[in-house]
Amino acid sequence: MRGLFTLKDLSTDKIKELIRYAEKLKKGFRIQYPDKKIVTMFFENSTRTHYSFQVALMNLGISVIDFDTKESSINKGESLYDTVRTFEALGVDGVIIRHSKDDYYKDLETIRIPIFNGGDGKANHPTQSLLDLMTIHEEFGKFEGLKCCIMGDISHSRVAHSNIEVMQRLGMEVYISGPEEFNDHSAKWIPVDEACKTMDVIMLLRIQFERHQEKMGMSKEEYHQRYGMTEERMKMMKDHAIIMHPAPINRGVEIADSVAECEKSRIYKQMTNGVYIRMAVISDALDGNL
Ligand code: CP
Repeated sequence: MRGLFTLKDLSTDKIKELIRYAEKLKKGFRIQYPDKKIVTMFFENSTRTHYSFQVALMNLGISVIDFDTKESSINKGESLYDTVRTFEALGVDGVIIRHSKDDYYKDLETIRIPIFNGGDGKANHPTQSLLDLMTIHEEFGKFEGLKCCIMGDISHSRVAHSNIEVMQRLGMEVYISGPEEFNDHSAKWIPVDEACKTMDVIMLLRIQFERHQEKMGMSKEEYHQRYGMTEERMKMMKDHAIIMHPAPINRGVEIADSVAECEKSRIYKQMTNGVYIRMAVISDALDGNL
């Protein structure tokens, strides 16, 4: 299979190479693919991933086909495989897919055009992890020895699961924190205030209500006071430490309104870097390297 499904498929050298390529694109390196056509296919809601992939395609001179999941023959019972196979038959050069099913791409193993995973269920969000790593690399110039705590709804988060695996491989110390009900033991647990005082990176997560089977055991206000990045907690952080969040953010829940755009926040920089990371991944795949 060609494209990008999970970062587990990539060596740390390849991950660093993609980040360096994205940094080069951000500095103005220009590469164009004017004869290529790529489909964006989003079966779950998205703003950043969907539209930053589209901006990345436009920046690369690639024609964008935005597949309308609500008006398509999927609603007549056509499978994901047959839908992607159809686009392959139409001569499309790649497909970007977000789907609610973990590992959906395993049903697409015989597809020959590159597939780019825009997020699968609770499992992987590889381009989000790459843009997070690019943002950390821009800030610190390294990964080894950095301490990061991912805080919030860990158990329902593909961002957490993607990042924990790759950050550990890159030599970072990764912790998780937040309500005990979201602790899936995917990394070492640390209390919220201790994390704020000791980490280089605090990565906040949205509460993923749409994936919850049961109602969360507290109000949003209580969550904010007990686990949110309040101004008080932001002031506990080390001078050089930064706040990240994959977004969408819920101001007043996992992050205070006044903290979302404070000088420690890299949230909007992450979004900008997402365009360059997605350009790097698509370009690398079209050049036959992914
Ligand atoms: N970070 C992220 O995946 O955002 P979207 O759901 O808006 O794409």
